[in-house]
Amino acid sequence: MQNFDYMTPTRLIFGKGVISNLPAVMKPLGKKILLTYGGGSIKKIGLYDKVKELLAGFEIYELPGIQPNPKYDPSVLAGVKICKEKGIDAILAVGGGSVLDCTKAIAAGAKYDGDPWDIITGKAPTLSAIPIVDILTLSATGSEYDCGGVISRTETNDKIGYVDPHLFPVCSILDPTYTFSVSKKQTAAGCADAMNHIMEQYFVADSTLLNDGFCEAGLKSLMANAKKCLENPEDYTARAEMMFACTLGCNGIYALGNSHSGWPCHAIEHALSAYYDITHGEGLAIITPRWMKHILNDKTVDRFVKYGVNVFGIDPKQDKYEIANQAIEATYKFFESIGIPMHLKDVGIDDSRIGEMAHHIAVNEGLENAFVPLLEADLVKILTESL
Ligand code: NZQ
Ligand code: ZN
Repeated sequence: MQNFDYMTPTRLIFGKGVISNLPAVMKPLGKKILLTYGGGSIKKIGLYDKVKELLAGFEIYELPGIQPNPKYDPSVLAGVKICKEKGIDAILAVGGGSVLDCTKAIAAGAKYDGDPWDIITGKAPTLSAIPIVDILTLSATGSEYDCGGVISRTETNDKIGYVDPHLFPVCSILDPTYTFSVSKKQTAAGCADAMNHIMEQYFVADSTLLNDGFCEAGLKSLMANAKKCLENPEDYTARAEMMFACTLGCNGIYALGNSHSGWPCHAIEHALSAYYDITHGEGLAIITPRWMKHILNDKTVDRFVKYGVNVFGIDPKQDKYEIANQAIEATYKFFESIGIPMHLKDVGIDDSRIGEMAHHIAVNEGLENAFVPLLEADLVKILTESL
């Protein structure tokens, strides 16, 4: 078991109607609030009006229009500008992972005198951030319970993971009913994203029985509940369990004491999203089974056996490689069964930039120390197999 140093300061308020806590949560943070949100889903579900009603006594400024795969320019820059000009005390992010991630970069960028890209890329240290509260509307990323955000810069094909302890939200308000309106496409993508977060912590060289059990339960919970959410989008129990499973999935708690995997599927997917602006969870679902096939060998096969037997109930009496291949096939079939397009060409990606993307990943993500090291040629192979 590896050493670790762990802290999550985020308060979670979970359940139906918990938005009533919002004024009390915001009050100690100050009066001037920046409200950040996306393309309008929060208005359609009445959440925008509810927030405005509850915060009637506050001075509210707004940053709407944050896109999926949130962009440095204009969103982060525009948010930083408002915070600096208006002297914002706290930021309230209402939406999915993209709104939260963008808000995290704004919160830190507003406390930095130079170009916010310096702190996002780690060129300059993050020394503080404006307090962040969020109301989550999409179960997927776990951004509500972690200190990371992912920001895209279109002109350089960059999609950078920005992780710093100052970026933990102060409080996340998690009402599963706000996810009833999430489309089938985003529900499935969210499930694939959260499953992959768990897999990135499970497929490691050194783990514990305890963590393996958490991860296997997390995967089974996500698969069962995503199916129920797709069948009945207003199934409160299924939406609630899926929300909680996603919240726990990216916080690192499942990996405490484990060795690090290098998060290879995320490293690859971030290049796909950066170059083609695709939905993160779909990219992950496409890459995952191809990555699994690529790394299956005598050193990793036992891990796949455990995964196959404990997550998919595959008969343990068979040959190891037989079980491992069935497990990989079951992973593919599950993603396919929830409606995810399972080839890169289905999401508009052909072979024309595979070499360029593989090079970008190899240079920027450093997967030579991953669970199974991946060099540029491996990345080309995985991407080509995913076409
Ligand atoms: O923009 P609006 O109108 O709000 O619509 C959004 C968006 O079009 C919609 N949506 C959100 N809540 C809804 C809803 N539609 C109907 N009803 C609701 N209640 O869903 C669409 C996608 O939203 P987005 O926020 O982009 O999705 P998600 O939460 O999956 O976030 C994806 C982003 O998070 C990053 C990804 O790379 C991607 O950029 N990630 C962040 C992580 C983190 N901070 O820890 C980890 C992840 O691995 C991931 O990389
Ligand atoms: Zn992810």
